[in-house]
Formats: sequence, structure tokens, C-alpha cells
Amino acid sequence: MDQPQNRVFSGVQPTGNLHLGNYLGAIRNFVGLQDTHECIYCVVDMHAITVWQDPKELAANTREVAAAYIAAGIDPERHIVFNQSKVAAHAELAWILNCVARIGWLNRMTQFKDKAGKDREKASVGLYAYPVLMAADILVYRATHVPVGEDQKQHLELARDTAQKFNNDFGAEGFFPLPEPLIMGPATRVMSLRDGTKKMSKSDPSDLSRITMRDSADDISKKIRKAQTDPDPLPETVEGLEGRAGADNLVGIYAALAGKSKAEVLAEFAGAQFSVFKPALADLAVEKLSPITNEMKRLMDDKAYLDAVLERGAARARAIADPVIARVREFVGFI
Ligand code: TYM
Repeated sequence: MDQPQNRVFSGVQPTGNLHLGNYLGAIRNFVGLQDTHECIYCVVDMHAITVWQDPKELAANTREVAAAYIAAGIDPERHIVFNQSKVAAHAELAWILNCVARIGWLNRMTQFKDKAGKDREKASVGLYAYPVLMAADILVYRATHVPVGEDQKQHLELARDTAQKFNNDFGAEGFFPLPEPLIMGPATRVMSLRDGTKKMSKSDPSDLSRITMRDSADDISKKIRKAQTDPDPLPETVEGLEGRAGADNLVGIYAALAGKSKAEVLAEFAGAQFSVFKPALADLAVEKLSPITNEMKRLMDDKAYLDAVLERGAARARAIADPVIARVREFVGFI
């Protein structure tokens, strides 16, 4: 079986409230990889149900992530766009890998601790096993590169450990490549607009904490105007942002949207007050995000098109995953 050198896999959960962190930390980078890599972009609906999802909303949110991918510039003709639950090989490999990964590894996962909260006994078994399904997502395509935001780094390490252990346990040296995380750009961890020390997230109760991919130009401007900062003007150097989480976050967002480094942004705005910087950031954000939001809206009205993309993508995904699963079954001794 040939091992591709440049196969990318990544996924986004359809849990609603797709936000600027998802865009700058992940989706935008997905777009940039299309000329150099063979890409598989998944809407991970099976991951979403590790916490309760209203079935109707899940279906709408699944289409919305597909629309965001396409509106951001992913070409579903050249590359594969599909939703996870359509390709049974993810679940099948996840079970086998559940028997390879160790409980000790999962117990170290900080995201489980964060998401399960205090009442861990009440979390679903799926939420606990989630990182193993994520490993299966990647490995079932023998993907080599995985573009993600920084919060997924620990999960990627678990995927590498699981691949390595499978290869060792089953005498399958080199069968699963050890997937490399691609954590790219100046916005690998976009922070809440209300609290620069907390990650921007879909589940934050405050809508003002995040810019979403549904926001109007007015919403975007309002949220940036209200973003938490401090009274000082912008510094001249990146080091000057230390200890100024809110300011650092806004500069990082500006840099990512403008395709510049933070140092370049500060060279332009050193000494500026937020009363100057915030409107400039709002204009830039509206300029970059509004065309995507509008295109997403247009696509969301064309359910038949989105469903056809996902169906075709799933068929192409199965064509890659099925032979891998067949080989895995042989390694394991299933007849
Ligand atoms: P999810 O749906 O939470 O997030 C999707 C992508 O967005 C990135 N991201 C951020 N980046 C920067 N700043 C933020 N505040 C921010 N919030 C989210 C995430 O890092 C991610 O890249 N487990 C994954 C989905 C997944 C997956 C996979 C990813 C399932 N299987 C296989 C890669 C490969 C998740 O929950 O992403």
C-alpha cells in the first residue's frame, strides 16, 4: 500500500457558534494547504455528540461547517469535504485503537478535564474516549499532516503515540505514519474578547466573547469596540505585549487577518491608543470576514448542493479508508 507523503486531514465540530478562533487557527490554514497537499476536511459530527446535541441543530450545524469550509475557499472538487458519520471506518478503527491506547494516556488529557468539569462521573464515555476517535480520523487515511489550533496539540501527541504503539504491537512498522501537527500563523490560540487569558470558545456563555462566522458588520464592530484591553497605548515591540493579554490578543488577530506578523503590526501602530487601533481592526475584520459570511449564507440556502458535496466527499473518503481498514483487520487477526 503506497504511503502518501503529503496527505492532510483535519476536522471541525458542528457544535454551532463557529468563531474567529476556528477560522484563524484552523479553517484559513486548511485553505492554504490545497496547492501543496492532498486534503481531507471533515465535519466531525461523531465528535459533536460526545456532549448532547439537539438532532435538528446538529444537522443544520453540520451543513454550516461544510458551508464555512467552502465559503472560506476550500474547493470540494479538488479535495475531500465530508461528514464523519458517513464513513463507518472512523468508528471501526476507533474501537481497535481503544484497545491500543492506554487509560493513563487519556487521563492526562486536559481538554477532557476542562469539558467534563467538576462532575466527571456524569460525562459521557464518548467524551473520555474522544481523543482516540480523533486518532482514528487521522490514521484511517494514513494522513501525514494535521493543521489545527494550539488546543489540539495534546490530542495530536496521543494520535502519534497510538500510531506508534499499533505499529509496534502488530509488527506493522511504518504502517501508520506519525502525523505531524501544523500549528501555523500568529493566531494559533485566539483568546476571548472579554478575558484575554481564556480561549475563545463556542461554549462561552457570553456572545461578546467571540466573533462568529454569522456576525454582521455591526456585530463585529461592536464586539471589537467592547473587547477588554488596558489603558496603555500599543507598544513598539512584541515583548511589550507581555502581561497585556487583551492587547496581545487583538494584535494577534489583526496580524492573522492582515497576513502579517505581530511585529509588523506593531511597527505600524506603535504608540497608538485603542481608540485608533480598535476601529482599524474592526474595519479589517469586516473586510475579511463579511464576504465569507455572505457566501456561507448563500450556501446554507442551497441544502441540496451541500448535501451532495458531503455525499460525494464521503464516497471518496471511503475509497481511501476502506483498504486501510481491510489491512488493519489482517494485522489484528480478524477473519
Ligand atoms: P474544534 O471543533 O474545537 O475546533 C476546530 C479547530 O479550531 C481550532 N480552534 C482554535 N484555534 C485558535 N484559537 C482558538 N480559540 C480556537 N478554538 C478552536 C481547533 O484547534 C481546531 O483546529 N478535536 C477537534 C476536531 C477534530 C480533529 C480531528 C482535528 C476531530 N478529529 C482530527 C484534527 C484532526 C476539535 O474539537 O476541534
